[in-house]
Amino acid sequence: MPSPIITSRTNGTRQQLAIAPPADGLALTGRIRIPGDKSISHRALMLGAIAQGETTISGLLLGEDPRSTAACFRALGATISELNETQVTVQGIGLGNLAEPTDVLDAGNSGTTMRLMLGILASHRDRLFTVTGDSSLRSRPMGRVINPLRQMGAQIWGRQNDTLAPLAVRGSQLTPMTYRSPIASAQVKSCILLAGLMAEGATTVIEPSLSRDHSERMLAAFGAEVIVDPETVSATVVGPAKLTGRPVIVPGDISSAAFWLVAAAIVPGSDLVVENVGINPTRTGILDALALMGADITLENERDAAGEPVADIRARYGPLTGCELSGDLIPRAIDEIPILAVAAAAATGKTTIRDAAELRVKESDRLAVTASELARLGVAIAELPDGLEITGGQPLVGAAVDSHTDHRIAMALAIAALTAQGCTTIDRAEAAAISYPSFIETLSDLCQG
Ligand code: S3P
Repeated sequence: MPSPIITSRTNGTRQQLAIAPPADGLALTGRIRIPGDKSISHRALMLGAIAQGETTISGLLLGEDPRSTAACFRALGATISELNETQVTVQGIGLGNLAEPTDVLDAGNSGTTMRLMLGILASHRDRLFTVTGDSSLRSRPMGRVINPLRQMGAQIWGRQNDTLAPLAVRGSQLTPMTYRSPIASAQVKSCILLAGLMAEGATTVIEPSLSRDHSERMLAAFGAEVIVDPETVSATVVGPAKLTGRPVIVPGDISSAAFWLVAAAIVPGSDLVVENVGINPTRTGILDALALMGADITLENERDAAGEPVADIRARYGPLTGCELSGDLIPRAIDEIPILAVAAAAATGKTTIRDAAELRVKESDRLAVTASELARLGVAIAELPDGLEITGGQPLVGAAVDSHTDHRIAMALAIAALTAQGCTTIDRAEAAAISYPSFIETLSDLCQG
């Protein structure tokens, strides 16, 4: 929707977004809804495909990443109806029954698609699979899943000493194992647990701190035997598992809600309710971080949606103060660091983010890119080896910035632009469609009041 504040120019697939907030202020008010959770959407499509019988999914995210997952599993033989938010139907073909595809599987920009799918493919005996992705995904580390899968007996090869895609997988009978992961990564954990579904016995992943647990929840809901031990931060599946298709309700994505929560917290006069947000405790690091900064955020109407907790979240403008973000909080806010850096830029004093080196291997090097692009807007920000240091409270000035084709960077910069003086242009803003295709529309709507 056109708005005097937001204008967009496209050149082929490249979108340049211009944001010029009015000098007399802009308050974000009302109630909005956000699209479905990306992590849960991927898992619903994958488990639906390998389960026996029908899975129905309501609230699926229609972003490019879940579309990559759907395309891969269609190529592997599952029947998946046209994707829509109301109801997607997946006819599962049963564990071990995926077909050898006639072409390369393309995971696009999606690390979750590639890593989780590898765990499933590795256990499909006597079939050959080749897997690739876009240039960003082809530069992201795959050794973190290839090495443990090989310890289970998997046969996988890739570029640069079997660390980078494109990858080739020859499915084989896997043996269960206990894997002590050096990183808190839900993609690594989920990959190993999915590989364990067809191994005979208990496959366990122990994490240094707890990453998102959607796989454990959904595997249990589909009928697998799953044992979770919070004390040892471990998750176990017992194979061979039997998965049965079922209805899945996908809640709104807290990682998408995060942009609006921060926007409301930093744009004077704002009072916004984001409805139907998943508040799984392994994902609520953003709420804890904003609470540490003194943000006025409250949960309303807390409820359960098919095994995942959900609430409406109200965020109001108010003064923020800098804080320290590190340790166990980081995996619980792993995708929210760029937007938290925007909140920190508006906060009085210093914010230090540590223990976040994982951000260097996301869709972009998010520490380097967050620092360089926010600096263009006048933010006092320094890159640390494993984090960021931001001295907030200085006025932001509109400038030309670039998403580096990273969806979360594009959206974080758009929110920062709302508090800048003058016009900000965000190049390659189309990246937002990876996880939030309607982001710019919602932004324009909110800016129109
Ligand atoms: C995801 C896990 C996270 C997150 C990604 C989605 C998932 O990565 O960054 O956007 O769906 O499992 P790691 O937990 O591997 O760091």
